[in-house]
Amino acid sequence: MKIIGVGSVVPQKVLTNAMLEEFLDTSDEWITERTGISERRIITSELLEDMASEAARRAIADAGLAATDIDYIICSNVVNEYITPSMSCIIQGAIGAKCACVDVNAACSGFIYALDMADDRIKSGKAKNILVVAAEEPTRMVDWADRALCVLFGDGAGAVVVTEGEGYIASRLTTASKTSCLYYQRRLEPTPYITKEEKSAPMYMNGRDVFKTAVLSSSRDITALLKQTGLVPADIKHYVLHQANMRIVEAIASYLKLDMSHFPHNVERRGNTSSASIPLLLDELYQEGRLQRGDKILMSAFGAGFTTGACIFEWTK
Ligand code: ACO
Repeated sequence: MKIIGVGSVVPQKVLTNAMLEEFLDTSDEWITERTGISERRIITSELLEDMASEAARRAIADAGLAATDIDYIICSNVVNEYITPSMSCIIQGAIGAKCACVDVNAACSGFIYALDMADDRIKSGKAKNILVVAAEEPTRMVDWADRALCVLFGDGAGAVVVTEGEGYIASRLTTASKTSCLYYQRRLEPTPYITKEEKSAPMYMNGRDVFKTAVLSSSRDITALLKQTGLVPADIKHYVLHQANMRIVEAIASYLKLDMSHFPHNVERRGNTSSASIPLLLDELYQEGRLQRGDKILMSAFGAGFTTGACIFEWTK
């Protein structure tokens, strides 16, 4: 499998730390020091499905294909306005594709899980050109009076088109059920027969636990993938990590004893966009001309579950 097209979309509204200071007991200094985030993009009137569809159109155009050339669509998404139908079905209709579609929810690691599924489908010969989209609006899962959480997130959609080829070198997925450190629960419609107590609450996160688990698991995945492929850390041109928090990225770089110049980041301008963060950053690097043919790129993500996913691929465009 190789990547042949990339595209992304972020909402129009820029929400700065100074704007958060207006209604929260917080400060630009606290947020910047603890997270590295200065501003994020947040959905106002946009529909996430429109952003996802536009990111998909851009990736397909970048690949030089038409929507009807796409054989399969996988969308990574945690929440949107619909429980059903899936976001991938909505995207299919919006872009005019005709293929089968499926959504995957592996939280912030979802894009890597989706890529891995695409690789399997291509290897099995069941599909040739696959659209992988990650579209997320985590700003809709948090309580906006909770200063510890709402300052962390932003919204966005990123997409890639993959096809047969020799770009995807190796991957590693792990899941360790640890559901109590990060979750968001929604109450379902009542029935006349429900007798159990059901909770509905904004996102809960044990920040310190997530921080520690993220650094340890991502460092472990990166080390394992390098060992598996016989590569050394310096062979990787860009470590494109899930953009949750600048301090997490710095801690992983330090663990690997690598200079931060190998760790591109945009969390300072985008906040944590869940599984969309990696394709958003990839598209930024691509648009800025920072990806050269032959570059080895390592992507690593971690998220609620606790899920982790990492892969190494070569830039072949
Ligand atoms: N502004 C000002 N003060 C704040 C804010 C805020 N926005 N948020 C919390 N505080 C206060 C707390 O109330 C606490 O005050 P107290 O000492 O009087 O009780 C103090 O700051 C310290 O709070 P902690 O939660 O202990 O702060 P910590 O240093 O752990 O930083 C943070 C919190 C930034 C969330 C950190 O734990 C973290 O980065 N965790 C990783 C979480 C993450 O990135 N999650 C991403 C989402 S999940 C994912 O993508 C997998």
